[in-house]
Amino acid sequence: MLDHLGQTKRTHHCGELRPEHVGQTVTLMGWVNSYRDHGSLLFVHLRDRAGITQVVFDEERDAELLARARQARSEFVLAVTGTCIARDEKNFNPNMTTGEIEVLATELKVLNDAQTPPFEIDNCRAAEDLRLKYRYLDLRRPEMQHNFRMRHQLALATRRVLDAQGFYEIETPILTKSTPEGARDYLVPARTAPGKFFALPQSPQLFKQLLMISGMERYFQIARCFRDEDLRADRQPEFTQIDIEMSFVQPEDIFNTIEPLIVECFKVAGLAPPATPFLRMPYNDAMNRFGSDKPDLRFGTEFVDLSEQFAGGPFPVFADAVKKGGAIKALVVPGAATWSRKQFDEIVEHAKKYGAAGLAYIQVQEGESKSALTKFLGADGINAVIAAAGAKVGDAILMIGGKWDLACESLGQVRLEIGRREKLINEGENKLLWVVDFPMFEYHDGDGRWYAKHHPFTSPVDDDIENLEGDLGAVRAKAYDLVFNGSELGGGSIRIHRSDVQAKIFKALGLSESEAREKFGFFLDALSYGTPPHGGIALGLDRLTMLFAGAKSLRDVIAFPKVASGSDLMTDSPSTVAPEQLAELKIKSLA
Ligand code: AMO
Repeated sequence: MLDHLGQTKRTHHCGELRPEHVGQTVTLMGWVNSYRDHGSLLFVHLRDRAGITQVVFDEERDAELLARARQARSEFVLAVTGTCIARDEKNFNPNMTTGEIEVLATELKVLNDAQTPPFEIDNCRAAEDLRLKYRYLDLRRPEMQHNFRMRHQLALATRRVLDAQGFYEIETPILTKSTPEGARDYLVPARTAPGKFFALPQSPQLFKQLLMISGMERYFQIARCFRDEDLRADRQPEFTQIDIEMSFVQPEDIFNTIEPLIVECFKVAGLAPPATPFLRMPYNDAMNRFGSDKPDLRFGTEFVDLSEQFAGGPFPVFADAVKKGGAIKALVVPGAATWSRKQFDEIVEHAKKYGAAGLAYIQVQEGESKSALTKFLGADGINAVIAAAGAKVGDAILMIGGKWDLACESLGQVRLEIGRREKLINEGENKLLWVVDFPMFEYHDGDGRWYAKHHPFTSPVDDDIENLEGDLGAVRAKAYDLVFNGSELGGGSIRIHRSDVQAKIFKALGLSESEAREKFGFFLDALSYGTPPHGGIALGLDRLTMLFAGAKSLRDVIAFPKVASGSDLMTDSPSTVAPEQLAELKIKSLA
């Protein structure tokens, strides 16, 4: 028999009671986390989002109450009134914040029963798919409750900090036109305009720029974004950005807005705040030194450039790479001279996975060092490379040659792998930096075209505007990324506010005037009505939460996430729809 809640009121949360509450009559409400039946005594661990309290039902005091409590099973919902009593010191439970007290029950209401859960909430070892199918149970776990408390606090801190800086929170449409972030759109068929579609926003990019044209000056939004792209641990098709735009600014103004926000996030997460200003590193340096536009600075192991060393030399692969304008990038790994063949093979495979044609190495030893390159360079040549790399006996030199970006990126991945394997990453440290001066364009070999690296509304660096008619590869953008422990936390740019510059960019991208008008006509019109210089940034709220909560996957900080196939295991969506629904939309499925 279930009881009604009636007028029973909760007096405390289950994580709240301490020795100073001893003697008080309290009422707790929550779920049965676990129970131990000792015959005349029944111990129930009652859980709510604040924690767990041990409740005792004592036969000597109230046999009927004990008998009723004995019916309760895991995840039953109870309201218990009783007296907060001190535990004997020998029964203290240091693993519970309430471990010095317990509640001796005097009244019990069974508010609901529960089916046997498919996995233990308390000690969950279930596979993630099962957890996601029963996500509402998974979310009852204390780890998950912690993650969502953190997420809430970060969102709140964002609103606090930005409000204090004069930002307005403004919503932008979800049903809209394709935006320029470059991923695949999610489309929504329009019933009232058969054959036409809305796109879900990949970000509020154009709308926030329109809000600057509207004179709002400072906008932010905790905005949902939708991108139909392949998922990874740090990517979801539906995610949330802290989206920001400001008028009359340069990159420094954006940094000066974001840095206090991040400092506040550290504070709410209970971490020592980072020193400001954060480090700023040009994109070229980040690539040349760490092989990444999001370098993990929690460990050193920087690249050495051996291009000059190998230029015109007897190792044809590297000499050729340099001749073609490429680079030879090297990593000196202390203590790696004694790695096994298998260890080297694994690293070579890792480099290949990221596009390197191969990876050459030298095991620096007393006397003659070991390397497959000896047959090209001779022992003296090898010694010259060792000297150029600054390596010493016991080290290994790992080298990748090829196109500059490919050599950098693949060796960058090797650096990260070695960091993980050799435990070089200082996990206790937090390293933040701004990567600045990104290239404006990137060339895609596949279709032989230039693409905007950020998006086509990003402003080129003033001095490089003249290069828009020349070497596009040399044009730098006023774009920046915020990098946190090797993860891209946010990205943004100063935008183009002049129609003439915008036209030049579209031309450089090979977009004809009519194509540009068709895609972004409304926006180009708006640009011509007195657009202030403006810029902004978007931070990934999910990624921010993941880093601060110490979660391993975005799925652990999104209440109802999608799995790698893009589906939701709990609602079993996407799903088929009734034929009438399709007919109404004038859509025929080819599946
Ligand atoms: P960008 O595409 O770099 O910029 O996105 C900004 C930040 O959003 C987060 N993010 C994601 N998080 C989870 N899953 C995803 N699939 C995903 N994609 C991006 C990242 C990223 O740094 N409109 C521009 C911003 C601007 O220019 O102001 C934009 O969306 O943390």
